[in-house]
Amino acid sequence: MNDYTNQAPATRVVHGVHPHNAEGSLATPIYQTSTFVFDTAEQGGNRFAGNDNGFIYSRLGNPTVRQLEEKIAFLEGGEGCVAFSSGMGAIGGTVLPLLKAGDHMVADKTLYGCTFELLQKTLPAFGIEVDFIDCGDMEQVKAAVRPNTRMVYFETIANPSMKVIDIKAVADYAHGVAKECLVVVDNTFATPLLVQPLSLGADIVVHSATKYLNGHGDVVAGFSVSRADLIQTIRMVGLKNITGAVLGPQEAYLILRGLKTLKVRMDAICAGAMEVAKFLETAPTVMKVCYPGLPSHPNYAVAKQELSQFGGMISFEMRSFEEAKKVLNNLHLCVLAVSLGDCETLIQHPASMTHSMCTKEEIEAAGFSDRLIRLSVGLEDPKDIIADLSQAFDAAAK
Ligand SMILES: Cc1ncc(COP(=O)(O)O)c(C=O)c1O
Repeated sequence: MNDYTNQAPATRVVHGVHPHNAEGSLATPIYQTSTFVFDTAEQGGNRFAGNDNGFIYSRLGNPTVRQLEEKIAFLEGGEGCVAFSSGMGAIGGTVLPLLKAGDHMVADKTLYGCTFELLQKTLPAFGIEVDFIDCGDMEQVKAAVRPNTRMVYFETIANPSMKVIDIKAVADYAHGVAKECLVVVDNTFATPLLVQPLSLGADIVVHSATKYLNGHGDVVAGFSVSRADLIQTIRMVGLKNITGAVLGPQEAYLILRGLKTLKVRMDAICAGAMEVAKFLETAPTVMKVCYPGLPSHPNYAVAKQELSQFGGMISFEMRSFEEAKKVLNNLHLCVLAVSLGDCETLIQHPASMTHSMCTKEEIEAAGFSDRLIRLSVGLEDPKDIIADLSQAFDAAAK
């Protein structure tokens, strides 16, 4: 019998907890079915009553999806995982069933644009009070968290400023002051290979699996990982009733396939990103580079202690909005597209794209501007990425 817990990361992502399947199939079978046949009426009744854990209906569970959920729970070190049909499905399906009118939430002010919009507009419409702060500043955390705070929410490597928050410090403080407080961390940019937030005291980890976990730009998906009681609520209320955002078995299969190469992809991407970030620091028309692996990054010390590697996401500021646009319009290799974590290097302009729902003031508060470009370093040779950026900088400066 394998001792899965002691395996190295490269082994864990390949094997997970299901090295073999029905009929000896090495690859996970795709159970392309909406419903499951009961042998008897009693068996069906027992499944609904929770006395028999066989499958019922694919919104409540599917064997291909379940295998993926178990692998993600294993990689994040959680008791359970719920798969969703998008990262936003996972975030909504996690936050909504665990909060109610009158609850208080504290969120970091640098978040993916749609998450920010959900927390800033939708939750207050349901009577939930949300305070946005800089979770990287413990004085602000101490001022914001109250005994009745029910949730603290932030991203491990924040989109798009690449801020790195001390998960343990925030979780320890929040749990000390607010007994019922759930610390929820979006670990999309870091992946469980760079940090496992649950091991540092977070209660729930959410993911857009659309990014590195799948890694090939052909699936939209999300996960929520936590302890068993919270997973039960997220599955039976957040997924089953509120969102219905069920992941399909084909997508689950593709993510299971993508996960097998997560370690080699992240190793290559992180090494490439470091080279590209160093080049950007020397580019004369680049005013600022945000990459947690550079000593110039304001959270370099936290990043060094918390992350095993510094990730594949870099942001950088040009001299003006016009120059930033010209750079984007002069690239030949880097692909002008939102999303991230794919084999191809993707580049985009947060202020007019992923964060276009934020006002100028909210963008400034989040620590960036319309001069900022966000780069998701892919698996190409970093020399080619650098050559493409370099010629685009020259063209934009003309
Ligand atoms: C950090 C982060 N969280 C969540 C999401 C939402 O994920 P999805 O697009 O899969 O719904 C994104 C999307 O870009 C993201 O960057």
